[in-house]
Amino acid sequence: MSTCQPVSFITGASTGIGRSLARRIAHEGHAVALIARRKDLLDELALEIKQTGGTALAIACDVTEAASVHQAVRTVESTLGPITRLIANVGGGEPTRIDTFSAAHIERVLALNVMSTAICIEATLPGMLARGAGHIVAMGSLAGYRGLPGAAGYSAAKAALANMMEGLRMELHPRGIRVTLLLPGFVRTKPKRKHRPFELELEAATARMHRAIVVQKPHYAFPWPLVLAVNVYRLLPVSLYDALLAGLRPKLKAHPE
Ligand SMILES: NC(=O)c1ccc[n+]([C@@H]2O[C@H](COP(=O)([O-])OP(=O)(O)OC[C@H]3O[C@@H](n4cnc5c(N)ncnc54)[C@H](OP(=O)(O)O)[C@@H]3O)[C@@H](O)[C@H]2O)c1
Repeated sequence: MSTCQPVSFITGASTGIGRSLARRIAHEGHAVALIARRKDLLDELALEIKQTGGTALAIACDVTEAASVHQAVRTVESTLGPITRLIANVGGGEPTRIDTFSAAHIERVLALNVMSTAICIEATLPGMLARGAGHIVAMGSLAGYRGLPGAAGYSAAKAALANMMEGLRMELHPRGIRVTLLLPGFVRTKPKRKHRPFELELEAATARMHRAIVVQKPHYAFPWPLVLAVNVYRLLPVSLYDALLAGLRPKLKAHPE
């Protein structure tokens, strides 16, 4: 079933941002490889995409397991053709609680947000380098701009991810490979949850992210009021930053994911 279409490999495609982006990318004309652990949800999306004339392949895979990701990449390349765009969207993680703090928790958050992306890059980059073309998209967060109470692991992971992608972006550009780092604020993926500051509806947020992907923006942070706030926070001295965040602490259960 190898097609001459461009092929996007999209992780975390079973729900939320990944699922919505996958629909948009299929509509754009890419064959889409849908990656996540819940195969039933991926099959349902693949069927929907095929019924509207698109090409989709659903693969159950835990992206924190290197062997599974390498196998998924081989299956996609032999079925759909070379992967032209990687969208490493998987991320998130439990809050960091000081009373139950453990290194194992931090390791899990780093594995889900940073190592999963590194594994997907390891599996797809050699093909892109050999072809001298490709596009790698990673899912950061405005939560990575500075440490956040209740989210020490998550904000550390998104900061590490952003710096990893920045280093790669500069090195890969002359080899014909573009890198896009997406940095959303709050996106409404769980409709029952309380509204968070400047939260965007899922489809509005993925429409923006999709445009940034199509034009291969190197860096896309949004929405602007929250981007402005986190950039100002970044410049604040520690004492002022701590004082401001201490005031917000009860609301910080709802940090950007
Ligand atoms: N929502 C927000 O407000 C927000 C804001 C900023 C950044 N982000 C970032 O956007 C990305 C997506 O977030 P979301 O809100 O759409 O989350 P979500 O609805 O919880 O979706 C997470 C996706 O990742 C998949 N996944 C989780 N662990 C996996 C694993 N080990 N292997 C393979 N797939 C796995 C899940 O599918 P399975 O469970 O089926 O595997 C699901 O498809 C994350 O990187 C998040 O940090 C979100």
